[in-house]
Amino acid sequence: MSDTFDTARRMGEIRSFHVMELLARAKALEALGRSVIHMEVGEPDFATPAPVIDAGHLALEQGHTRYLPATGLPQLKREIAGFYQARYGLKFDSNRVIVTPGSSGALQLVMGVLVNPGDTVLMADPGYPCNRNFVVLMGGIPISMAVGPDTGYQLSAERIAEAWSADTRAVMVASPSNPTGTLLDRDQLQAIYEVVKERGGRLIVDEIYQGLVYGDEGYTALDIADDLFVINSFSKYFGMTGWRIGWMVVPQSYVGAIDRLAQNIFISSSSIAQYAALAAFSPATIAILEQRRTEFRKRRDYLLPALRELGFKVAVEPEGAFYLYTDCSALTTDSFTFCMELLEQQGVAATPGRDFGDNRPEQHIRFAYTTEIDKLREGIARLERFLR
Ligand SMILES: Cc1ncc(COP(=O)(O)O)c(C=O)c1O
Repeated sequence: MSDTFDTARRMGEIRSFHVMELLARAKALEALGRSVIHMEVGEPDFATPAPVIDAGHLALEQGHTRYLPATGLPQLKREIAGFYQARYGLKFDSNRVIVTPGSSGALQLVMGVLVNPGDTVLMADPGYPCNRNFVVLMGGIPISMAVGPDTGYQLSAERIAEAWSADTRAVMVASPSNPTGTLLDRDQLQAIYEVVKERGGRLIVDEIYQGLVYGDEGYTALDIADDLFVINSFSKYFGMTGWRIGWMVVPQSYVGAIDRLAQNIFISSSSIAQYAALAAFSPATIAILEQRRTEFRKRRDYLLPALRELGFKVAVEPEGAFYLYTDCSALTTDSFTFCMELLEQQGVAATPGRDFGDNRPEQHIRFAYTTEIDKLREGIARLERFLR
């Protein structure tokens, strides 16, 4: 029997996360003794902050190794709500906070409670590759909308209004965005929220790169309304990718349904990670994270002009996350082959556009500045040799 019959039909729609394959090849080259400069990885190179690790050790010593409530450890939910109050002056009931296994867990839950088979969800292309697959998993249809420099690689209220159909159920945006690092400003997001609300849809805002913004401190979508879904994570700003812990803040009316689904899909998120995360908002941890933010900004300020100098175009200055989404059309017509050859010949790993959608992927490459500045310099030197 062929594979097609062995897996559900939806598997035909679920695409690989190519960067994971590229990462595997990079690791294989390293195992052979080759040096690789990693500019493909979407995770900070910094270790989890020491206060969080200490809290994790303590959790183990104290035996916090059992299931917790499906929506999260109540103290952690209060800490998260307190973080919004401290940073944005926002007050809301901590029962609206749902702790999840990474924001990936939050995305599954939110699609699970919103999407009926056949419903469509609008999202930007380029965008985070897994989002469309979460929609497919629920029987929905992801509608990828090509965006470009004119809208800062973000959806706009006008484009959403044009694309809306009777089947549209939700709109997903991310600020800062992966792969472009661009933000939605408050007025743009407000306008998007209004268009979606007028049409009876739901707005999902991915803020997982919140905190990794290099200009203004920014805002949270929760400032605009409390009947939208805000996704967040301990992975990026907090440097906890491998702990697999994230959260979302949901409209009060959805708490019960999400609790029910979380009980069934996950039972609970990792108890050790949740106890460890209690230390994530302490002043000592935040001081460490803010230093890292300064370091990320320095890296961006080095890498952006260096790549431009080599002929990569970056039309909109990225203000957040740790990515530069470059137009490489002056250098190649096939970004995938370019990245594979760059890895094999010079040991530089970068992510080809095809991971982020179908909007001219062959003309784009994402560089992540998740490695220290000396290595970025070495990466640029190797790129220069490769281009010669
Ligand atoms: C935009 C965006 N959303 C969600 C995720 C999922 O991250 P995690 O499950 O580690 O919170 C990522 C990871 O790269 C991302 O870039």
